[in-house]
Amino acid sequence: MSERTLVLVKPDGVERGLIGEIVSRIEAKGYAIERLELLKARNDQLAAHYAEHEGKPFYPPLIDFMCSGPLVAIIASGEGVIAGFRSLAGATDPTAAAPGTIRGDLARDWGTKVQKNLVHGSDSPESAAREIAIWFPES
Ligand code: TYD
Ligand code: MG
Repeated sequence: MSERTLVLVKPDGVERGLIGEIVSRIEAKGYAIERLELLKARNDQLAAHYAEHEGKPFYPPLIDFMCSGPLVAIIASGEGVIAGFRSLAGATDPTAAAPGTIRGDLARDWGTKVQKNLVHGSDSPESAAREIAIWFPES
């Protein structure tokens, strides 16, 4: 069954010129790009997006980082794309992410208060629906 997921290329990915590389990996796997927008995140969007992490020590620097520059919001679709993109992305911590993954191959900004790990991907069908509504309210 085809499904949709919400991907973000975070500000570190945009700043480092990795939009094309990341989109290319999504397409090469066979997923479709349904929507793609370069935008500056608003605070209310980030608060909604990361609501589950509010109150954690990494939350304030995470919000600052996500506001620090433009990001790219993407709706990708395909069979199993929610788990499939998480697998392409690799582990949250760039130092632990396996080679062959986006984070394992390309993220190298360890040792900061927030993990600059290049991408976000929805972690469940419920998260995907919720996050798509935050970044693409008209869809
Ligand atoms: P999380 O949802 O746990 O990871 P993922 O992005 O793999 O779904 O955390 C959201 C983001 O918060 C994560 O991408 C980077 C940041 N973060 C930290 O900076 N430090 C941490 O210890 C954790 C768990 C996350
Ligand atoms: Mg998450």
